Amino acid sequence: MALWGGRFTSGPSDAVFALSRSIQFDWRLAPYDLRASRAHLDVLHKAGLVSKEDMKKISTALIALQEEVLSGSFVVESEDEDVHSALERALMVKLGPLGGSLRAGRSRNDQVATDLRLYCIDQMLHLAQLVTELQRVILDKSHEYADAPAPGFTHLQHAQPVLFGHELAKHVHAFNRDIERIQDWYERSSYSPLGAGALSGSSLGLSPEESAKALGFKGAIANSIDAVSDRDFVVEALFVCAMVGSHLSRMGEEWCLWSTTEFGWATVDDAFATGSSIMPQKKNPDVAELARGKAGRLIGNLTAVLAMLKGLPFAYNRDLQEDKEPLFDSIDTLNLVLPAFTGMVATTIFNRSVMAQSAPMGFSLATEIADYLVRLDVPFAQAHEIAGKCVQQCEISKRQLHELSDEELSNIHPALRPDLRTYLTVEGALASRTTFGGTAPKNVQMQLSKLGEQIVGFQTWISDKGAAFSGMMNQ
Ligand code: ARG
Repeated sequence: MALWGGRFTSGPSDAVFALSRSIQFDWRLAPYDLRASRAHLDVLHKAGLVSKEDMKKISTALIALQEEVLSGSFVVESEDEDVHSALERALMVKLGPLGGSLRAGRSRNDQVATDLRLYCIDQMLHLAQLVTELQRVILDKSHEYADAPAPGFTHLQHAQPVLFGHELAKHVHAFNRDIERIQDWYERSSYSPLGAGALSGSSLGLSPEESAKALGFKGAIANSIDAVSDRDFVVEALFVCAMVGSHLSRMGEEWCLWSTTEFGWATVDDAFATGSSIMPQKKNPDVAELARGKAGRLIGNLTAVLAMLKGLPFAYNRDLQEDKEPLFDSIDTLNLVLPAFTGMVATTIFNRSVMAQSAPMGFSLATEIADYLVRLDVPFAQAHEIAGKCVQQCEISKRQLHELSDEELSNIHPALRPDLRTYLTVEGALASRTTFGGTAPKNVQMQLSKLGEQIVGFQTWISDKGAAFSGMMNQ
């Protein structure tokens, strides 16, 4: 059923209908569309435009449609253009011409913007929940390996030793920022476009503030043109998805690297690895690789919508229909990746002894020599040079720094006394990194317990908002 046609002599050609049809992807907005219709119905009734009796009839039909949609028994027909027209057709099948009453004071322009905001809020809360579940397992692993020394890298070269729990916990911080982005996205995006009509509001005495409140929004959008044109909330949601994807990809890269034979740090559980069709010995970290690879499409989805919006005239243009597939794809992608990734992290076993043995390799304690000299008032530039000489001597003679003799040390510089060796241990180096955010065991413990509190805080926020949202949907 077309929602327009009065001024046309013919319907659209098959090619045009095929091009403009969106129901094959926008059907997932149906529950939100029906909920928004009920809010609109109340507003129409309050404005004296729909009688109490008719309101009851329409409301009962909308609830019945909601059940059909949720149970999957609703049949989409080949002439249905989009979710809005399909639901209106079904309403008219149930109610006759009365089913067309909801069109008063509303356009698909404010309708689709409202549906999409509701969908986004629902999905971003779910995304936040999945991210906190991943954070929880990373944090558990960080606790498990909070006392395990490992080499820390810059340029993928041994740099300085770190505690492996510290290494893992950095990812929890990155995901903290993603959740905080979702929280402030929510504060900015929770405004209702409903009541903006096609673009200019309505002459029917409707109350956008009231429908906004009924739908759990913080308020109504203060400019009707902005209400139907703004898709910042989609772009920002896509940015959050791309950022989560980028974080997952960097983490995935570590898992790939750490599970190589050369590293031998990580053993991925069989349930989270795959084999090769030709090489019987293979066990591949495909979950980590797919997470790394899918970051590309998440970034692509963000740029697709940004590019679509650039230079777009206000208010509604059909280009805006192109906001949905990228958004849905990013949401679906993360819904697929995150649970698998979380399972992979939770079941990975790390090899403490390999990491510990490798921690002092590559002269990763050379900075300790420089710091030792600085404490003896040697200017750092000079201390750096002296420590470099120690490394050079060891490299020539294939030894570690603590293996230099007392004589060799004092030949390099008289300030290098035998007590230097007490600093040339991984444990000593770790224990001395007591600056805020450093890798000393005490600092790491403090860091991990703070992270635990933050995750609990996020989960409380998510469940409060989630409960309010599902309460609103079921009203
Ligand atoms: N399917 C459309 C979309 O996704 C709904 C809005 C259509 N509005 C219009 N004036 N043609 O954007």
